[in-house]
Formats: sequence, C-alpha cells, structure tokens
Amino acid sequence: MQNIYEPIPVKIQKIEIYSGDVKLFRMAKLDGSPFPLNQNGLVFVPGQFVLAGLWGYGESPFGPASHPNDSSCIEVVVRKVGQVTSALHSLEEGDELTLRGPYGNGYPIDFFREKDVILITGGCGIPPIASLVEYIISNRSDFGEVNLLYGATTPEDLLMKERMNEWKRRINVTLTVDKPACNWDGNTGFVTDCLEHLKINSANTVVAMCGPGPMVDAIENLLNPMGIPDRRIFVSMERKMQCGVGRCQHCVCGDKYVCVDGPVFNLDEIDKAWDK
Ligand SMILES: Cc1cc2nc3c(=O)[nH]c(=O)nc-3n(C[C@H](O)[C@H](O)[C@H](O)COP(=O)(O)OP(=O)(O)OC[C@H]3O[C@@H](n4cnc5c(N)ncnc54)[C@H](O)[C@@H]3O)c2cc1C
Ligand code: FES
Repeated sequence: MQNIYEPIPVKIQKIEIYSGDVKLFRMAKLDGSPFPLNQNGLVFVPGQFVLAGLWGYGESPFGPASHPNDSSCIEVVVRKVGQVTSALHSLEEGDELTLRGPYGNGYPIDFFREKDVILITGGCGIPPIASLVEYIISNRSDFGEVNLLYGATTPEDLLMKERMNEWKRRINVTLTVDKPACNWDGNTGFVTDCLEHLKINSANTVVAMCGPGPMVDAIENLLNPMGIPDRRIFVSMERKMQCGVGRCQHCVCGDKYVCVDGPVFNLDEIDKAWDK
C-alpha cells in the first residue's frame, strides 16, 4: 500500500536568484524519469501545491510555477521567511531535497474555458498564476481576452520578468509598482488602479487571484460593482499546513480544510469571518 506521506527525493537542477530573499528552484527526479501525469496530461493543476522538504528542517507548501505539462521538472519560487525556506535558500544546484504532492484542487481551468480571464497578483503571489498563464498560452484558443495585472513594491520586486516578456505576445500584461525607479516606464500605483481602467465584459469574465489579503478585499470591492459576482472570483488561500492531505487539522478554516477543499476557493465559499 502506498504511504501518502512518503516524499520522493529530487535534485536541484537549477537555481535562479530573483532578489535578496527570493529564489527559483528547478527540481527533477534523481533518476531523470518524468513526474507522473494526471488524467488531463498535467503534472499538477495550476494552483495546486507541493510540499518541499529537507530532512531535519521540515516541509513547506509551494505553488509550482513551471509549465503544468512539463513532466521533466517542477519549479518553485521560494521567499525566505523562516526555518524551512532559509534552509532551502542555503542549497545549491545538485543538492537533494524531497517533494510530496501535488495536493489540493487548483484553479478550475475547465470553468475558465471560453471566458475572458483576469489574473491578478501581487508580491510573491506570482508562482501559481505563472503556471496558469503557461497553461492558458498553450491552449490559447480555448480562452477569450486574458489580462494579467501584477503589482509589486518596486521594479526589482517584480519576479519572472523574462517569462513575462514572452507572455506579452499572447496575453495582455500590466505591471505596476508602488515605488517607481528612475528607469521605470510602467504604471505606478496599486493593481486596483489598473483594474479600474480595464474594459470588462462582466457577463463572461472570471478572475483568478493570488496575493495578500488586503489586495483580495480591495479587488472584491471593485469587481462586485463591475458585475462580477463572488462565485466567479477565485483566490488561492495561504494557511499553515502540515500533512497536506486532510488528516492533521492544521489548515482548518470554518468547515473547510484548505489543503483538500482548497487552496483555491471562490469568494462565495469563503466565510466572511475568514481572515484572507
Ligand atoms: C498553498 C500554498 C502555496 C504557497 N506557495 C508559496 C510559493 O509559491 N512561494 C513562497 O515563497 N511561499 C509560498 N507559500 C508560503 C510558504 O509555504 C511559507 O512561507 C513557508 O511555509 C514558510 O516556512 P518557513 O519554515 O520558512 O517559515 P516559518 O518559520 O514556519 O514561518 C515564518 C513566517 O512565515 C509565516 N508562515 C509560515 N507558513 C505560512 C503559510 N503557509 N502561510 C502564511 N504564512 C506562513 C509564519 O507565520 C511566520 O510569520 C505557500 C503557502 C501555501 C499554503
Ligand atoms: S494540512 Fe493537514 S489537514 Fe490540512
């Protein structure tokens, strides 16, 4: 019988340094074999998470940022905030760690089909949105107008700029920063300001978000009057997790387990008492 907690050993193929506290790790299986695919031919559904672990330090959840069809590797973007993430940041290319998952539900990509899609993210929330963008671009004709709005504090805090230059050829990308530098020619201000300027076909638009709670609240307050109801607004929730499979109770919010019922919820499903 398979042990659901048993992690698989993986090797770091590549590390990209995005900023002082953010790195991307590309991981492959030790024997070079591909990661298993689900029934839709995906390694993971964008928005699902994996638990990356290091013996003696623990495991932490991350939303993969790689192309969900690419079974040769899984990429995660890690912000250094504590014990596990600091230990991950001390690793080098060629070092080994462990992976479990993918777990959780992910964004409902079948529901998004044939609709206009607005993707909104801020700060370090870009990884799951990046894998969703990669999926949409690979299946571009299945989706209507696609807008990505991405905000960060400074231009240096905007992650994955190279990939974004590729994305700009297939979808609309709007970048904005709170504190512009002198060579910045993009927008200044919050993503909410950019959203207000979008032309939206509200009857056929869905929204996917990953970012800080105040951003999610502000976006919800704008989208509802624009005619986009909470059931068409999907957000990835962050909670402390341990088992990842609905057993340990660490991630429970109201009547939901964030690890198995989420981490992606539409705003209708989230009790107003939840701390976003
Ligand atoms: C579904 C999901 C996807 C995630 N995807 C990413 C990702 O792609 N990239 C990334 O950098 N981070 C991501 N996170 C957050 C990441 O899991 C935490 O930053 C990490 O677990 C911190 O571990 P640590 O041992 O380094 O920090 P700790 O020492 O455990 O904590 C350091 C600080 O971070 C806070 N923290 C710890 N875990 C979480 C958490 N799960 N949610 C919110 N705050 C937390 C603690 O309260 C504390 O303030 C995700 C979290 C979830 C639940
Ligand atoms: S993380 Fe253990 S129940 Fe959700």
